[in-house]
Amino acid sequence: MTRLRSLAVDQAIRQTIAQYQVTHWDFATAETKEWTHGYHSYPAMMIPQVARQLIAIIRHHDPACTTLFDPFMGSGTSLVEGLLAGMSVHGSDLNPLARLIAQAKTTAWDPELLEVLARRVFMTAKHLAVTPDDWPDFDNLTFWFKPRVIDDLVRIKRAINTVIPPSWQTFFWVAFSDTVRWVSNSRNAEFKLYRLDPARLARWNPDVLGTFVKIVQRNQIGNAALAARRPLPSVTLYGHNAMHLADIPDETFDLMLTSPPYGDSRTTVAYGQFSRLSLQWLDLPVEPTAPPPHKLDQAMLGGHAASSLIQSLDSPTLAAALDQITAQDTHRAREVLAFYRDLNEALREIARVMRPGGFQCWVVGNRTVKTVQLPTDRIIAELSRAYALVPVITFTRQIPHKRMPKENSPTNQAGRKSATMTGEHLVILRKE
Ligand SMILES: C[S@@+](CC[C@H](N)C(=O)[O-])C[C@H]1O[C@@H](n2cnc3c(N)ncnc32)[C@H](O)[C@@H]1O
Repeated sequence: MTRLRSLAVDQAIRQTIAQYQVTHWDFATAETKEWTHGYHSYPAMMIPQVARQLIAIIRHHDPACTTLFDPFMGSGTSLVEGLLAGMSVHGSDLNPLARLIAQAKTTAWDPELLEVLARRVFMTAKHLAVTPDDWPDFDNLTFWFKPRVIDDLVRIKRAINTVIPPSWQTFFWVAFSDTVRWVSNSRNAEFKLYRLDPARLARWNPDVLGTFVKIVQRNQIGNAALAARRPLPSVTLYGHNAMHLADIPDETFDLMLTSPPYGDSRTTVAYGQFSRLSLQWLDLPVEPTAPPPHKLDQAMLGGHAASSLIQSLDSPTLAAALDQITAQDTHRAREVLAFYRDLNEALREIARVMRPGGFQCWVVGNRTVKTVQLPTDRIIAELSRAYALVPVITFTRQIPHKRMPKENSPTNQAGRKSATMTGEHLVILRKE
């Protein structure tokens, strides 16, 4: 695309977005669990309709856009939407559970065969004999699961391994993983791992097989919808750290669409904590460089605090916010800096794998730390100038009801709360 043509496309995208009312992007009453989107819960999931709308707008103005990449794919919302739009999709995430879920959500199995296998696995699991010798060996097993629950989970796991052919197992492991979460002694309404309080724990008596059956049947409906769209374009998943997209060649992708972590993986939105129980039950293939489940959050963006506050990131907005946080708490300032330092590395890598003229869509939540606003949308736009990315437009969508803490304690003083996020910001950039 010539420079003039690119500027005209940017302008056309801005005009299209300007036609929508702000409330258009709320999708407050939208069905967010259609297709395969409801397979498994995951922290800070993207709203499918947001991804769908962004893909439609970009492709309308840039029909040459046929490959989609999400470097922080999580459960793969953007990838499912890319597939439905007929794009070949590529996703990456450090979290093996995210990769398992994304794999299942982007695969269409034959619905009739799946039904046969589902019945077979239910019957087998019901009749298997287990003893405590068959229990998995991980720390705090009986803290997080009641003995009868462990027996039933062992039955299901063994049934999947015994009667399901390997290429079909991903579908059942995802249902198993969601079951693990629902039947554990953790508070299911929270993404962080908290044990049920003693009174609720005493009454807790989940129907493990029944839960698994319901989840499998629910997911079969999603699979049938996706299968009706076969043949699907190609899907490629990686376990790369977004800061090092290793073997992905330069200028590979047309469109990048992602919601990166918010910068508080070790505290508020803890992907590793959310995934730990499932990962301990699942025997997922371990890559030699992969962090163990309990170290996952430290491997994410911002997982290691910066050793000093000296920085050369090209973002005046970040510099001003850091100054204000440093004046109150240097440790917090070093944590915040670590996140943007890592995000900057990811921006560089992601820009490298984008074709010139390709677009990037970032869906970001702005945080408040120590009462200081961290406008990640502006910081991304500023940092990306170094990587030949030009801002096209930034706009806001209100979050109607997201399972995210809206408040935190800014000073760690009980009772003092402040808003952490008011809405999401959608940032569109184009690579020169
Ligand atoms: C906001 S979530 C993405 C949610 C996703 N859009 C969805 O709908 O499920 C951010 C993801 O970034 C991943 N992540 C964090 N740091 C990463 C890194 N350095 N490299 C790759 N993935 C990372 C987390 O594991 C998490 O799955």
